[in-house]
Amino acid sequence: MKNVTVITHPLVQHNLTRLRDRVTQPQEFRRLLGEIAALMTYEATRSLGVKQISVRTPLEKTVGAQLEKQIVLVPVLRAGLGMLEPLLEVIPHALVGFLGLKREESTLRAHFYHKSLPKQLHRCEVILIDPMLATGGSAVAALDFLCEQGATSIRLVSLVAAPEGIARVRKSYAKLPIFTAAIDRQLNEVGYILPGLGDAGDRLFGT
Ligand code: PRP
Ligand code: URA
Repeated sequence: MKNVTVITHPLVQHNLTRLRDRVTQPQEFRRLLGEIAALMTYEATRSLGVKQISVRTPLEKTVGAQLEKQIVLVPVLRAGLGMLEPLLEVIPHALVGFLGLKREESTLRAHFYHKSLPKQLHRCEVILIDPMLATGGSAVAALDFLCEQGATSIRLVSLVAAPEGIARVRKSYAKLPIFTAAIDRQLNEVGYILPGLGDAGDRLFGT
């Protein structure tokens, strides 16, 4: 699939399998999700723009690199929170926005309950973080809002994606880069990813 990167690194796949396991409890789930998120960050940020700058080492002047744009991490609450801290460890200077979205069980429509974003998004590289891309409704709602607020450069990091969710995002955002650890088989009749890992928010927080 175009502009979809599946991160097949053995450590990611090893941890993902443990996340899928139904016996994995919240404490372990949080740790594993964090480790995967950090590993995925390297791949998801590989194409970030840098500009050349000069730097003076203790011995001489040389040429180095500096990120071109401010990075903004935007976790989709709640489950995206499980990936935030590990990303901040790798990108400590990132700013953070929050989007609270809840999928209604009967309609599978996502509704906002919280929005807070840093200013001047048009100058930033936005990394939208949500472990699950199921119907794609939450991701599209989040992307629509980010674009309304001025974001022009966005990438999506989702641990597990359903083909239906990718197709939905693609319909509105043909070129958006998507990074995932797995494209699973399909959605079930109530909008859960198969084989998936269940409800990511519930498994993270034990609800
Ligand atoms: C889950 C998940 C995604 C969304 C994906 O969140 O974390 O945000 O579902 O589903 P979609 O692609 O069909 O929109 P949920 O709404 O269950 O909220 P939670 O994270 O608080 O559990
Ligand atoms: N949200 C989840 O947390 N899991 C799914 O399988 C689908 C949506």
